[in-house]
Amino acid sequence: MERLIKERLPRHVAVIMDGNGRWAEKRSLSRIEGHKQGVKAIRDTVETARRLGINVLTLYAFSRENWKRPKREVTALMRLLKEYLKRELQEMLDNDIRLVAMGNLEDLPPDVRKTLRETIHKTRSRNGMILNLAVSYSGRAELLRAVKRICQDNSKGKLRAQEITSEVFSRYLFTNGLPDPDLLIRTSGEFRLSNFLLWQIAYTEIYVTDVLWPDFRKKDFIKALLDYQKRERRFGLTRRQLTG
Ligand code: FPP
Repeated sequence: MERLIKERLPRHVAVIMDGNGRWAEKRSLSRIEGHKQGVKAIRDTVETARRLGINVLTLYAFSRENWKRPKREVTALMRLLKEYLKRELQEMLDNDIRLVAMGNLEDLPPDVRKTLRETIHKTRSRNGMILNLAVSYSGRAELLRAVKRICQDNSKGKLRAQEITSEVFSRYLFTNGLPDPDLLIRTSGEFRLSNFLLWQIAYTEIYVTDVLWPDFRKKDFIKALLDYQKRERRFGLTRRQLTG
């Protein structure tokens, strides 16, 4: 941890938490046990991010495609999400964490949606760190939603075609107001984006680790951050232009 350069920490870290099922299968446990252990990794990661002073942590908790999983698993994931929100509320308030969520939240069971809405409301004035949960999220659906809203604003005369810049487009996304992720971490060794933040990660540094999500702890997070700090982010420029 001492090796981390404080001034070069990412402002926004996004995580694809993958490998819960494999973690459980390796131990002949049910997949649900893997998700339960995954919640422990979430708590550890949120705590580390907050301690380090990272501004935004986005976690891919549930994709829109995940609804197609066996009903038992979906129900268990929804229950874990609700329990997590209830259990962690005080922790969030004590540590100045604001919870926000992105995705098709109307898809959630009413009780989970209510708990999510309440947690968002109760933490709304905290400003130490933003914890952004992606639930029932799909990057493509987010882009289509943005395009539809832009078309509506255009037909109402509120937005002209020539005014649609990258900045304007970004405002129509769920992540409106948040910086783009500087670092995307994916666990369990898969090199895929899985429909996550397709627009926002244009210049994001990607870090893939073989560690399965339930085993992901502070030391693994620090390793990812150290790797990130070794990278040269050029945003399309040449090295000479960057070093002046
Ligand atoms: C992927 O593992 C994990 C998920 C479906 C999302 C992560 C969910 C949790 C950590 C638990 C509940 C969430 C909250 C916010 C409390 P996988 O099942 O796809 O693993 P596999 O690829 O090994 O099968």
